[in-house]
Amino acid sequence: MTFQSMIMLFSCALFLLGSSSATSDTIPALQAIKDGDTLVSNGQTYELGFFSPGKSQNRYLGIWYKKISTGTVVWVANRETPITDKSGMLKLSTDGNLQILSGNSTKIWSSNSTVSMNDNLVVVLQLLDTGNLIVWDNSSRKQSVIWQSFDYLGNTLLPGMKFGKNKVTGREWSMTSWKSPDDPSPGPYYHWLDPTGYPQMFVRQGSVILWRFGPWNGHKFQGLPLENPNPLYSIVFVDNEVETYYKFELKTSAVQRIVIMPDDTTVQLHWIDQIQDWAMYSIAAVKDGCGRYGLCGPYGSCSMNRYPPCKCMEGFRPRVPDEWDRANGSSGCVRNRALDCGSGDGFKKISGVMFPDTRWSSYNHSMTLVECETACRMNCNCTAYANSDISGSGCLLWFDSQSSFSKKIRVLAVVLSASSAVLLFAAVYAYIKKKKIPLMKERGNLYGLNKKSNNVQMEDLDELPSFCLREIAKATHNFDVNNKIGEGGFGPVYKGVLEDGREIAVKRLSETSKQGLEEFMNEIRTIAKLQHRNLVKLLGYCIHGNELILIYEYMINKSLDLIIFDETRSTMLDWSKRFNIIHGMARGILYLHQDSRLQIIHRDLKAGNILLDANMNPKISDFGLARKFVGFDVTAKTKKVVGTHGYIPPEYALYGRFSIKSDVFSFGVLVLEIVSGKKNREFSLDGHNDNLLGHAWRLYKKGRSIELISASLHGSCVVSEVLRSIQVGLLCVQHHAEDRPTMLSVVLMLVSEGVLPQPKHPAFYTEEGRSELESASSVDEDTITLLYAR
Ligand SMILES: *[C@@H]1O[C@H](CO)[C@@H](O)[C@H](O)[C@H]1NC(C)=O
Ligand SMILES: *[C@@H]1O[C@H](CO)[C@@H](O)[C@H](O)[C@H]1NC(C)=O
Ligand SMILES: *[C@@H]1O[C@H](CO)[C@@H](O)[C@H](O)[C@H]1NC(C)=O
Ligand SMILES: *[C@@H]1O[C@H](CO)[C@@H](O)[C@H](O)[C@H]1NC(C)=O
Ligand SMILES: *[C@@H]1O[C@H](CO)[C@@H](O)[C@H](O)[C@H]1NC(C)=O
Ligand SMILES: *[C@@H]1O[C@H](CO)[C@@H](O)[C@H](O)[C@H]1NC(C)=O
Repeated sequence: MTFQSMIMLFSCALFLLGSSSATSDTIPALQAIKDGDTLVSNGQTYELGFFSPGKSQNRYLGIWYKKISTGTVVWVANRETPITDKSGMLKLSTDGNLQILSGNSTKIWSSNSTVSMNDNLVVVLQLLDTGNLIVWDNSSRKQSVIWQSFDYLGNTLLPGMKFGKNKVTGREWSMTSWKSPDDPSPGPYYHWLDPTGYPQMFVRQGSVILWRFGPWNGHKFQGLPLENPNPLYSIVFVDNEVETYYKFELKTSAVQRIVIMPDDTTVQLHWIDQIQDWAMYSIAAVKDGCGRYGLCGPYGSCSMNRYPPCKCMEGFRPRVPDEWDRANGSSGCVRNRALDCGSGDGFKKISGVMFPDTRWSSYNHSMTLVECETACRMNCNCTAYANSDISGSGCLLWFDSQSSFSKKIRVLAVVLSASSAVLLFAAVYAYIKKKKIPLMKERGNLYGLNKKSNNVQMEDLDELPSFCLREIAKATHNFDVNNKIGEGGFGPVYKGVLEDGREIAVKRLSETSKQGLEEFMNEIRTIAKLQHRNLVKLLGYCIHGNELILIYEYMINKSLDLIIFDETRSTMLDWSKRFNIIHGMARGILYLHQDSRLQIIHRDLKAGNILLDANMNPKISDFGLARKFVGFDVTAKTKKVVGTHGYIPPEYALYGRFSIKSDVFSFGVLVLEIVSGKKNREFSLDGHNDNLLGHAWRLYKKGRSIELISASLHGSCVVSEVLRSIQVGLLCVQHHAEDRPTMLSVVLMLVSEGVLPQPKHPAFYTEEGRSELESASSVDEDTITLLYAR
């Protein structure tokens, strides 16, 4: 089942809801809410009543969004004890206990929230606009809470709900998936916050841990796309003697929730997009990515930019070499030689990684990094240290679990993923050798071919049709020059017509070799699974000798660059179409970036790679291939930067350092090009050396952004949308990668009406002769917070 159909099922879950009659948000004790009656929060945001999920006939008491027509249940009371008919009712007893009774007065569910009775006791039940259902004690002037639904999380985390643990009472605010869209009883996935050591979040299936997020680094949970500061929501993280939890609060009215799904997409973030439908971002669906817990085992590092993804850290070797040779690194690595803790050995700085599991760590927020190192050096069981806050304060110490906790657990399962390349500021100092290694040394090692297995596994590809060369040759008139419609980064592209009349685009890959066949097939498998309305669809492939060919759907309106940069054709795209293109591109890139199986960094986003269908909907092309071909180039040119001049950010152009923020940068350039109708690369303006980015920035600073708008848009533009787009574009092209928003934030900023942050100056912006490029090349390593391990 796809994510989308899953959402559809959830959306349809409420067709069988009873009609509302009661419209109050409060009921007193002894009054019942019968099946068919509802309680509606004061601002009409949430509604409480009985419903049947999906195809089920069973009745449950739940809370759902009142205003959103598709309806979506956010909380269920009797998850495990449905009522089989419509005789159910909800009642508040005089002692504050909330009960669901069936027609024959059987108690189906109880909140168990009784308070001691006295003559003055006045209890009321109220549904708040936050979605919280509260039993109040109204006896004294100040109301107090007897019971609240926010303390009993189901599969949904709403804004304001605590997610974590009360360490005194032991109560966990954790999430459990439904069993299926038809059955809200607790399902296979469980998502919780573990306050052991330094708090982190986990997702498990049964007893198997699938994912780990965190720890909190002062701004975000590592590995999660939610970040502070942000114009749309803020994340509150509280960690004291009594409780450890996080919650998110909304700054705008955009509806958002975090849901744990009953399928392997697990944790998702949902919001309402500009077409008034649920949009979602899958946080944890990494089936085979580095986010998978323990993929590379203890002392292994993981990077999706190489194959196989696991590698032992410097100074370590595979624990079970045979398994590693079969590309299975889950058993981890062992030290080449025992640690000489007293003298000799020191710490090694590791950057660009997600912190290792912190359950066997201790922390002190007031220690400095120097004190932290001293503390770690003094204890031979301490394996690594780092700042606990990425802004450069606090101390986090990791201990060898076997000695400190006498438990056989992996401590240094350092996870290095494509996504963690963004976490440039979280790095690790590992205790191995005193020698300081250059920053990001990992990046030199991209792909390695797995020489031991040459047999390509075709069986996984049964969903994707294979075409024979003859068929393709016929469709393209034997790759006739007249059929050539473009020259992509990886070879020529031809238009073709299949025998059944279908129009296709045929990409003939030029740089291929037999040796890379396995990786090629891996890549095709990945791409074939990626399906999104804003990505060009792969229809099939063809392998014949050294010939590797990909067959895509044909896009009648060709590519964006042929329209927006052409004076005549640019009138084909009015503002509403362009705004739709901006949204669509953003959604497509977000889909690539999100951890759905493998995170894809496109690396060559440009107007020529944005194709347009008959309705001018944008479809991103060439995704997925960039990764592969960097791999192929590795043996020859390790430093080759793919991408197109004018669209690549400085950290990539200068150091080959790429991350999802490189794509964000390219997206920002595209937005400014779409608004202005000018090419960044060829931009010139009398009197300035500015490129398009500098020009847009200068106008923005003067409050004259409106002058950037292409003349062809003057009749159609909606000023507020154009200005918002320009500001989002400028946020994306900021010089420092860490200042650029994630694609998730971009998508949310485009759909919301909230106040946007002020962009800082863009990359490649020069002023008074001072070149940013020069100053960038002397980037100060010490401003980056790191993790040190031994
Ligand atoms: C009352 O109804 C419940 C659920 O509807 C059912 O399980 C139970 O057997 C019924 N009890 C009696 C005594 O009929
Ligand atoms: C209330 O108590 C009963 C009996 O101990 C238990 O089965 C039930 O799960 C409790 N209800 C809630 C909502 O915790
Ligand atoms: C309960 O108390 C609140 C605040 O003190 C008040 O607004 C509300 O009307 C009271 N409700 C009832 C049913 O007494
Ligand atoms: C990798 O090896 C481990 C044993 O160390 C085994 O349990 C696991 O199933 C293997 N994984 C794969 C994908 O073969
Ligand atoms: C944290 O470190 C500071 C400074 O070294 C020290 O004074 C304080 O006692 C430490 N706190 C704890 C709880 O260990
Ligand atoms: C380190 O671990 C060993 C057990 O492996 C233990 O005997 C020793 O006391 C520990 N040292 C410190 C300083 O905690």
